[in-house]
Amino acid sequence: MSAPNKPYDPVAVAALGADEVARMQADALAAIAAATTLDALREVKVAHSGDRSPLALANREIKALPPAARADAGRRVGAARAAVAEALSVRGHELEADRDARVLLEEAVDVALPWDRAPRGARHPLTTIQERIGEVFVAMGWEVAEGPEVEPEWYNFDALNMGPDHPARSMMDTFFVAPPGSGRVLRTHTSPVQVRAMLHRELPLYVVCPGRVFRTDELDATHSPVFHQVEGLAVDERLSMADLKGTLDHFASTMFGEGLRTRWRPSYFPFTEPSAELDIQCFVCRGESVVPGAPPCRTCASEGWIEWGGCGMVNPRVLVACGIDPERYRGFAFGMGLERALMFRHNVADMRDMFEGDVRFTLAFGTEI
Ligand code: DAH
Repeated sequence: MSAPNKPYDPVAVAALGADEVARMQADALAAIAAATTLDALREVKVAHSGDRSPLALANREIKALPPAARADAGRRVGAARAAVAEALSVRGHELEADRDARVLLEEAVDVALPWDRAPRGARHPLTTIQERIGEVFVAMGWEVAEGPEVEPEWYNFDALNMGPDHPARSMMDTFFVAPPGSGRVLRTHTSPVQVRAMLHRELPLYVVCPGRVFRTDELDATHSPVFHQVEGLAVDERLSMADLKGTLDHFASTMFGEGLRTRWRPSYFPFTEPSAELDIQCFVCRGESVVPGAPPCRTCASEGWIEWGGCGMVNPRVLVACGIDPERYRGFAFGMGLERALMFRHNVADMRDMFEGDVRFTLAFGTEI
């Protein structure tokens, strides 16, 4: 007779012994506690609760036990596996919360970030001076007029009393627009805007015309083939040179300083009669530097005056060319260069600085709006 089966003692199956299961559980819990990232925890999960983990392998052993022993071992392994699963889940939530908190911090939009890191530019002083001039005249009831930069020769010359043979015409250093004989030029001055204003606007007429003009000059410290002028024109019934003088004095003092006077020197322009060169009192020394023994003035070379532009009463021939009755209407006009005005106003020694577009130059004039 064979001996009765020895009762199977699960304790004897090493993998299912209480100590061994407890050790597997402790290993798993320690690894879970040691995982500091979600990736590390994923590896721990594979190692301690995956199909090939010690506890999963132990679980498989249970089937091999005699039925009487299975329940006990099953409970032990099941409890260990449940504890591991719970610990994984708790640790997983902790690490997710950590990650979320970190992402919130790292990816947050910091609304207190410096907003002025993109360097701010500045408007060009030629732009702001043109606007300022416009404002001075608009405040007196004048209008701002503009004209094209490419003009038929008739507007640039003929209508302004510079016929084809007029010496002033060939002295104007004109850029002619191709093809030869096109009859078009880059305007050499803003005076053609006067002609357009007289032809197209109602009388009486008070307009100021800032704009870009072109001459075949080489670029150097005091010349540029492209520069800016402002032109003024008034046509009304009883205008005199006194009106011109008063207008220019007001213009000079609003642009360069209260109380600065202007002076005229006899001159010639085909489109005005009489004509004058216009000087303004030096705004630095106010004429003091001409007094013997006074300190010299660099701005006006101790002349006391600075050349500013030209002016005069509109030549009746110009009025006639523009269809205005010179018996009834009279006009006065003036024109000046803006670069020159800016150069002496701000002590700019080299005109090229105005055209090079270096923001350091424009910034020095401040960010006028
Ligand atoms: N157009 C002249 C020039 O470019 C400047 C000028 C002089 C304009 C006298 C005028 C004026 O309106 O009356 O040199």
